[in-house]
Amino acid sequence: MHRIRGFQPEDLPRLRELTIQCFDGVSIDQNIERELGTIAGIGWQERKAAHIEEDCRVNPAGVFVVEVQGDVVGYISTRLNPSTRIGWIPNLAVDPRFRRHGLARALFAHAFAYLRASGMLAVRIETLEQNAVGRAFYPQLGFRETARQIHYVKPLTEEP
Ligand SMILES: CC(C)(COP(=O)(O)OP(=O)(O)OC[C@H]1O[C@@H](n2cnc3c(N)ncnc32)[C@H](O)[C@@H]1OP(=O)(O)O)[C@@H](O)C(=O)NCCC(=O)NCCS
Repeated sequence: MHRIRGFQPEDLPRLRELTIQCFDGVSIDQNIERELGTIAGIGWQERKAAHIEEDCRVNPAGVFVVEVQGDVVGYISTRLNPSTRIGWIPNLAVDPRFRRHGLARALFAHAFAYLRASGMLAVRIETLEQNAVGRAFYPQLGFRETARQIHYVKPLTEEP
């Protein structure tokens, strides 16, 4: 049995830990590090963990965690835009030990209800081409593909 509840500030260390563990292999920050090595002494893990920290700072009421037997094993974060009424799901992760049990599906249902109740009329999400799960899963939830983007990085120690 699982339970979904709102984020509490004391969850943050666990959400950072889950982020670093879960985004190994599906992170732009990690791809940058593969390409250029460590930059400014900051590993990709720290840069990626900063994303969930930002989500929790900007819209803590829109971050939901899923617990199994009292332990936090996943989360979803959301953002609201009252002007455009298009919400956003920036981050989502489930502990590898608890995957394929429908926890992400349940987190999405919770996030959709929150976004609707907050007046959003649509919701956006992105996934990487290298993220096979995201590409398979999101269309099942009714997300329609709207664009593909290419990310580049260039070291400024190089000329020109
Ligand atoms: C994406 C993620 C959150 C899914 O979590 P989950 O709790 O395992 O997902 P669910 O059990 O709710 O599965 C939902 C559906 O996703 C698809 N899916 C999940 N894992 C899959 C896999 N390994 N291969 C193919 N499809 C998969 C399936 O269609 C699944 O439905 P089904 O089990 O009824 O067939 C989890 O894999 C994760 O943390 N991945 C790393 C971080 C990440 O990619 N986050 C999203 C960034 S865009």
